[in-house]
Amino acid sequence: MKVGLIGSGNMARALARGWGEPVLCTDSGSGSAQALVDELGGERFASNRELAERVDVVVLCHKPYHLDPVAQEIRDVAKAVVSVLGGVSTKDLQRAYPHSPVFAVMPNTPVEIRQGVLVYAQPEHHDDLEAQVLGLFGRLGKVVSVPERLMGAATAISGVGPAYQALLAEAQVDAAVRKGLGARLASELVTATMSGSAALIEAKGFDTLAVRREVTSPGGSTARGLDALERANVRRAFQDAIEAVVNPDGAR
Ligand SMILES: NC(=O)c1ccc[n+]([C@@H]2O[C@H](COP(=O)([O-])OP(=O)(O)OC[C@H]3O[C@@H](n4cnc5c(N)ncnc54)[C@H](OP(=O)(O)O)[C@@H]3O)[C@@H](O)[C@H]2O)c1
Repeated sequence: MKVGLIGSGNMARALARGWGEPVLCTDSGSGSAQALVDELGGERFASNRELAERVDVVVLCHKPYHLDPVAQEIRDVAKAVVSVLGGVSTKDLQRAYPHSPVFAVMPNTPVEIRQGVLVYAQPEHHDDLEAQVLGLFGRLGKVVSVPERLMGAATAISGVGPAYQALLAEAQVDAAVRKGLGARLASELVTATMSGSAALIEAKGFDTLAVRREVTSPGGSTARGLDALERANVRRAFQDAIEAVVNPDGAR
């Protein structure tokens, strides 16, 4: 299926690099679409409408607040619409695009290396088009279907997650540097530990407690480190973070 990207910023770039094919795309005048075409081949379109007319599916990669103005340009020519817009529900999409099949997918930036997580709100009707859309996005990582009402919570851990993991890595690297380790070596140790631990948790049926217990001898060094993290309120920090993402108006 021929895909067109509306917007050529961070997420569009990550998707396009993950697909690794010539790209058809637009921007709002910054030159980002041309830069993407220069990198991957393909074609930059001068208008969203022209792009939508030429493709089987448009992927909305603009900011959420551009939903209505962009829809006004292309709603009568878009054959199918996939949105990656944060906080925009299938209902919002269907209202903006009343004549097209719509799909809400929330990817994260590791799609760029085909190790993304793509949370997907199951549409009411399952058909061949849905299978094609899932096939397209499935090339970029793990596609996980969730009920629409839980999309916000799911994306608050997977969509924003790469930033959290990067912050956690950075904090550990900084701490190790203070103890004399080189930043590069510390980064290698931390990131390899993160990916190995993630794989181990998955291999153990997602039993985080079991993985934790296996490293934690009574009265030992891991127990002391975990105690320091608990006293620093790491759990509370993640609870506050999810609240801030899911309920932006209630955030401090
Ligand atoms: N970044 C992430 O990790 C992430 C994760 C999940 C979902 N998302 C979602 O992805 C979307 C884009 O986020 P981003 O981080 O990629 O933002 P971004 O880097 O600011 O990119 C936004 C893009 O939209 C383009 N644009 C704005 N108005 C347009 C219009 N009227 N027609 C065509 N293109 C238009 C911009 O054009 P210019 O280049 O000309 O400014 C830019 O290329 C958001 O809705 C966000 O919720 C992002």
